[in-house]
Amino acid sequence: MSLEVTPLTEADIDAYIRVYWNAFTAVEGNLESVFFPEGLTEPVREYLRSGFDLSDPSFSYILVRDSSTKTVLSVAGWYHQTKHLTDQEISDKEEKARKERAEQKPVPGVNFTAVSDLREVQTKTRREILGGKPHALLKLLATDPTAQRRGAGAAALRWGLEKADDLGLPVYLEGSVMGKYLYTKNGFKDVSIRGYETYMRAMLTL
Ligand SMILES: CC(C)(COP(=O)(O)OP(=O)(O)OC[C@H]1O[C@@H](n2cnc3c(N)ncnc32)[C@H](O)[C@@H]1OP(=O)(O)O)[C@@H](O)C(=O)NCCC(=O)NCCS
Repeated sequence: MSLEVTPLTEADIDAYIRVYWNAFTAVEGNLESVFFPEGLTEPVREYLRSGFDLSDPSFSYILVRDSSTKTVLSVAGWYHQTKHLTDQEISDKEEKARKERAEQKPVPGVNFTAVSDLREVQTKTRREILGGKPHALLKLLATDPTAQRRGAGAAALRWGLEKADDLGLPVYLEGSVMGKYLYTKNGFKDVSIRGYETYMRAMLTL
């Protein structure tokens, strides 16, 4: 099967959300059913849509399609931090994110307490593993369950690894148990600390 990787446009955001949702909710014990206990309702979809800022160059969202049918098979979200951050800059960034979470208006079907708990664990883990170091972060990688094991996830990962190489950045991610095979195959090492690996593994390219 021939695959094509394209940047996400406004028109494809719902397709991105659909693939993300289908992929993660198919996994037993997934966090999405904790974060969004009522499922992918319209308010939840709207909340997820609001999380995309396509004008921010630090974020790259991509789609992997079947070139002949144009069906979206896999999606990924990348973040690039190209400068070294001081401890103060990290703290300011963390506080800003906390403030935004605290000011977030309730959305029916979104369990903000659970979302916030995970963000805090991620914040602490990233601070310990990365400090202020420049890095590429794989925020999300998902392949529709009907299209898995056909190379689409690997194509989305490769795209990001090549971009990180071009920028001279190591790649960090918190991956699911399911993604572990793909990541170790592509040069990631497990750098998990404490109990973080209960749900996910922190991994870093060397
Ligand atoms: C992880 C995930 C993105 C992989 O996507 P995919 O499109 O199926 O991956 P690929 O077909 O490109 O797989 C590439 C290689 O990874 C490994 N791999 C992928 N899934 C695997 C699995 N379930 N078991 C064992 N190895 C696996 C294999 O080595 C595979 O190559 P092969 O099929 O030639 O043996 C997909 O399983 C998924 O969306 N899972 C649910 C969401 C998730 O956990 N996302 C990752 C966390 S951020």
